[in-house]
Amino acid sequence: MEIKIFEDAAALGLAAAEIFANQIKAKPDCILGLATGASPVPTYTRLIELYKAGEISFKDVSTFNLDEYCDLPKNDKNSYYTFMHENLFDHVDIKEENVHILNGNAEDTAREAADFDKAMAEAGGVDIQLLGIGNNGHIGFNEPADAFTTGTFKVQLTESTLQANSRYFDENPMPHYALTMGVGSIMSAKKIVLIATGAAKAQVIYDTVKGSVTPQVPASILQNHADCILLFDKAAASKL
Ligand code: GLP
Repeated sequence: MEIKIFEDAAALGLAAAEIFANQIKAKPDCILGLATGASPVPTYTRLIELYKAGEISFKDVSTFNLDEYCDLPKNDKNSYYTFMHENLFDHVDIKEENVHILNGNAEDTAREAADFDKAMAEAGGVDIQLLGIGNNGHIGFNEPADAFTTGTFKVQLTESTLQANSRYFDENPMPHYALTMGVGSIMSAKKIVLIATGAAKAQVIYDTVKGSVTPQVPASILQNHADCILLFDKAAASKL
């Protein structure tokens, strides 16, 4: 794992966006794995700037998002569908048919998951995957567990995640289930970029980087990935 430490979230966002922009320039029809949460917002903001400056185009890019809540209307303000459109897709020239976001309202979630994995495989796999990290070490919505997960599946969110994410939910209660790429799907990306900011992530970053590889800290499996870059601000890296 390669580690880079930045002064703050803004500087980290610029660096992460540059990695993704370089991927798009090198392979205009690349497959991006994308993430939600507060962490990737500065990265997406910078990618929009680069698009508007004419430096990159998303016209041939395809995307696969890590996860989506179950039982939340697609257009709810807290759906990851809404998040991705507000923070990136509505501002660039990506084609809607090239955007892949799990349907958390699918009647047959197993089928939805299998179809998503199939589409990802048929596209040739993810070239570069962006990841945030939960306070409990989750990647996507792969919560601490007794074993690493494989492909896309329906997961019950843990108390830690419900607490961390419930701040976004007011009128609608926070969903307790989500669909997520599995750890195996995430690890099959050719390159992975994990970003983390803020002192609240310092302990889990320590466990991810210095601890043993364990499904109790799902992100620790990144130690086994051949091409993984970790970008931290000073606060998130403070225990390393
Ligand atoms: C959610 C997402 C994760 C994300 C995490 C951290 O739980 N499913 O993919 O990494 O939040 O979010 P934040 O960046 O807001 O700390």
